[in-house]
Amino acid sequence: MSPRDNERKDAGGTFPFGRLIFFVTNNIHKFNEARMVLSEFNIATAMLRLKPPEIQDDSIENIAKTCALRASEETGLPVIVEDAGLFIDALGGFPGPYSSYVYRTIGKEGILKLLEGCGNRRAEFKSAVAFCSPNCEVKVFSGSVRGVISRTIRGESGFGFDPIFEPEGFSGLTFGELSVEEKNMVSHRSRALRKFAEWYRSLRQGSAGKAFK
Ligand code: IMP
Repeated sequence: MSPRDNERKDAGGTFPFGRLIFFVTNNIHKFNEARMVLSEFNIATAMLRLKPPEIQDDSIENIAKTCALRASEETGLPVIVEDAGLFIDALGGFPGPYSSYVYRTIGKEGILKLLEGCGNRRAEFKSAVAFCSPNCEVKVFSGSVRGVISRTIRGESGFGFDPIFEPEGFSGLTFGELSVEEKNMVSHRSRALRKFAEWYRSLRQGSAGKAFK
């Protein structure tokens, strides 16, 4: 039996109701956040370091969906792909689906510069979580959190734009100043993942079997 066959078996001899799901990412922070949220639902998560080619699209849902389909086809495993972005009101939603490129080019400092002298600092983080398995049609779940872009870079935790995003309800602290547990209480990713987990749990309990081919 090949290692992949073993993985398939672990993913659930009984899959689609298996406990183990593969989270496709190279980002350990994303993975840790996801692992903690899904464990609340008794779902075990393994990190799968694949890089399915990412399509360019204005919709993070379409990006996540396409990558999940490709990753599941390639591996034969039940996978989750998540795509996220920072949508800034005063910039018409920029950088949105282009957040990764913007982070690599102008970074947090560049965003603060773009907003210099701007009174409206409202913004939203959005996440799309796509689930796909060989036995199941691809499904997408969305989550978001509103907040404001801070005036300075603050905090060492997390990744990406965390040190410049102050979520609502945390008295002006940035995601970078929160623990993973605190971030997971309100984050875009945790909200999308909880929607996924509720759906997945209902499948495992056999009440939504229609979703399967
Ligand atoms: P990705 O394409 O889902 O990896 O996200 C695009 C970019 O958005 C990342 O490179 C990060 O800079 C940023 N991003 C996404 N999610 C988060 C988050 O939870 N915190 C901070 N930055 C994030």
